[in-house]
Amino acid sequence: MADAMTEEQEYLLGTDHAELMRLGFQHRVWAAECASGWQQAGFSQGQKILDLGCGPGFASLDLAYIVGNSGRVLAVDESARFIKHLQRRSEQEGFANIESKVCRVEDLKLKPNSLDGIHVRWLLCFLDQGQALIKRLAQALKPGGTLLVFDYFDYRAFSLAPRSKALDRIVEAIQTSWRQSNGSLDVQGDTGQWCAQAGLDVLSIENKSNTARPGSLKWRWPEVFLRGYLPYLETNNLIDADTVEDFWGDWTQREKTDGSYLILPPLLEIIARKPGT
Ligand SMILES: C[S@@+](CC[C@H](N)C(=O)[O-])C[C@H]1O[C@@H](n2cnc3c(N)ncnc32)[C@H](O)[C@@H]1O
Repeated sequence: MADAMTEEQEYLLGTDHAELMRLGFQHRVWAAECASGWQQAGFSQGQKILDLGCGPGFASLDLAYIVGNSGRVLAVDESARFIKHLQRRSEQEGFANIESKVCRVEDLKLKPNSLDGIHVRWLLCFLDQGQALIKRLAQALKPGGTLLVFDYFDYRAFSLAPRSKALDRIVEAIQTSWRQSNGSLDVQGDTGQWCAQAGLDVLSIENKSNTARPGSLKWRWPEVFLRGYLPYLETNNLIDADTVEDFWGDWTQREKTDGSYLILPPLLEIIARKPGT
């Protein structure tokens, strides 16, 4: 893999402690869905698995337990702060099977036919070169190796029921902000085809998202994100203060009303395998 960088690289959502905590919370909210995906992908003992765009390494640590002492997890992220967090935890908890690296995915050199598994969760939506990346990842997989990509498609489906016009405007603004930073919250609409075009067999495509009712962890999941992200949208003139006020009014009202619910942003899990054994 490429050399480490020293300067902090901040992605759209930042790399401060609040974002680290949000990612840890998010990891736990979706833990059951992710664990079942890892099992379906065949991630197991003794394997060499790349966790690409690993962030603070919440999934990397889980994967290190799965591959065990005879396996290896390569954890890569552009954020030096997040990688330091993972290294600290991995040292404290005595993991000898995690190799972590500060590197942009665009600069990452991977040996062909070297990996049993690749895990790419909530990364692709921030990139503008998704297809080229999938092609490189397909080359890096061993024959029989598996790629699991977990990300958004059709983000505009995210809505409150009964409908909130303020949330609809916010969802539009979130998508615009992603596009302005060269990402896309529709990326998983393309990933399946990119995998097939890279010569991988697409084994499964599943929508792991669903509805959420007030009081549940999945209700709190977008709330935590919006508490942090609405100020960014407002500062960048993508929404106005009235919309924010109307939205939190709607949110609080729905929370108190029996029968209200959320349609969460669709999260698509795509599992693809390199032919051969
Ligand atoms: C939403 S976080 C997801 C982290 C982790 N995959 C997870 O599921 O918890 C996205 C991560 O991608 C990293 N990232 C964004 N663009 C990147 C790039 N071009 N190269 C490497 N890492 C990148 C960010 O630093 C951040 O840690």
